[in-house]
Amino acid sequence: MAIRNIVKIGDDVLRKICRTQLTFDEKLATLLDDMAETMYKAEGVGLAAPQVGLLRRICIVDVGDGLIELINPVIMEKSGSQTGSEGCLSVPDRFEEVERPMTVTVRAQDRNGKNIVITAEGFKARAFCHEIDHLDGILYIDRIKK
Ligand code: CO
Repeated sequence: MAIRNIVKIGDDVLRKICRTQLTFDEKLATLLDDMAETMYKAEGVGLAAPQVGLLRRICIVDVGDGLIELINPVIMEKSGSQTGSEGCLSVPDRFEEVERPMTVTVRAQDRNGKNIVITAEGFKARAFCHEIDHLDGILYIDRIKK
């Protein structure tokens, strides 16, 4: 495993639409392992592939109850709303209030290509929304509550 460099705001790679991940191989496994190591070292609760310079629809989340790997995630359902403080490893030393759904159901694939469906609430739902936004070039600062 290896720590990867985290791309910071201002880099174009954070503003691009990511491509669907089509291969589920050893290279993907290595990338996911590296992303996890990078996220934990930086003490983040989520990390998306563009944040390590790769335009792929891949993100990871760990809000303290275990690592979740999402390949090609899609939010299928959302309900309710919550407003809370949010930050991003690509936007250092800044936290802002952002409104998000209270509950989301996400469909994705795991590292082996198997379909998974996860429903998350509260902070985990917030983290899912934040990371999935990254895959479409959206940063949380675009969603700051006015
Ligand atoms: Co972020």
